[in-house]
Amino acid sequence: MMNPIPEPSVIVMIGASGSGKSTLARTWPASYRLELDAYRELVSGDAGDQEATGDAVFVLHTVLEARLTRGLTCVVDATNTRADVRKRLIDAAHAHQLPAAAVVMTATLEQCLTRNARRPANRRVPDAVVRHQYEQIAAARPGLRGEGFDHVVTDDRLMRLRLLLQRAVDRIHADHQDDADRTERARRVLAGRFFGEDLAAAFTWTQLRPNHDPIGAIVVGGDEITLAYRTWYPDPLDWGFEAQVPCLGGCSGPAWVEVRTPMDLLAVYDDDFPEDAVRCDRCGAGTRAVSA
Ligand SMILES: Nc1ncnc2c1ncn2[C@@H]1O[C@H](COP(=O)(O)OP(=O)(O)O)[C@@H](O)[C@H]1O
Ligand SMILES: [Mg+2]
Repeated sequence: MMNPIPEPSVIVMIGASGSGKSTLARTWPASYRLELDAYRELVSGDAGDQEATGDAVFVLHTVLEARLTRGLTCVVDATNTRADVRKRLIDAAHAHQLPAAAVVMTATLEQCLTRNARRPANRRVPDAVVRHQYEQIAAARPGLRGEGFDHVVTDDRLMRLRLLLQRAVDRIHADHQDDADRTERARRVLAGRFFGEDLAAAFTWTQLRPNHDPIGAIVVGGDEITLAYRTWYPDPLDWGFEAQVPCLGGCSGPAWVEVRTPMDLLAVYDDDFPEDAVRCDRCGAGTRAVSA
């Protein structure tokens, strides 16, 4: 049976730590997901900070209300082991005339414990807590309908992997539409491959002239680093960016230094790159040759 949960609705994950809730939740679009750990991180800087739970729950319910008012599906990614916690979610759904669906995770206690043990220290829950969560859920399961859930399903019946695959395919199709604008695709793909997404988002082409290497810049506010994409090496695997730096020999020409990683960019920004790697266009030689 394929995806028996209607939308819009309030989808309530119910599972111990490590049962796979967040993994499953990621098969819904990002804006659908109300993840308690993410809100803990948002309000405290630490996803595992249990002291932040009260504030995180406040944020979760604020987002829930705002979305339900707009008739939008919410996937509540939290353990939801307690009946009073679930009741508040069911009530919110029904107050907006939307159905509430419980998604019960089927991972075994052993699986939860094993996965929990593999987590970084701040995200690891004591074994006794996982065991207690597991027992609470096992005890609650037969009564979920009675609590007011309109649908009760287990994660193994949802067939969400297909939707995740479909979304990945759709994204590739959207990427290929950008092929129409080859420079835009190059911008995103190239800068992203070398420097990561955040820096790629700040990168734009500034000079695209025929028969010249394309020039671009990473610009943030008034700060910038100018980059040229060099394609003169025979092996395309060696193609890559150079950053413009002042000529260390003191001439007025632009000099260039290879930048292949964010570390290289940081060195350029801090004026802390190896001098013998710089090549000045105007002097026609590297600094070492100039000073020799
Ligand atoms: N169905 C699964 N089979 C095997 N491993 C899984 C499965 N679902 C999740 N995991 C792995 O278990 C770990 C915990 O999953 P996660 O989704 O973060 O759990 P939760 O959000 O319930 O704490 C992750 O490392 C994840 O990759
Ligand atoms: Mg999680």
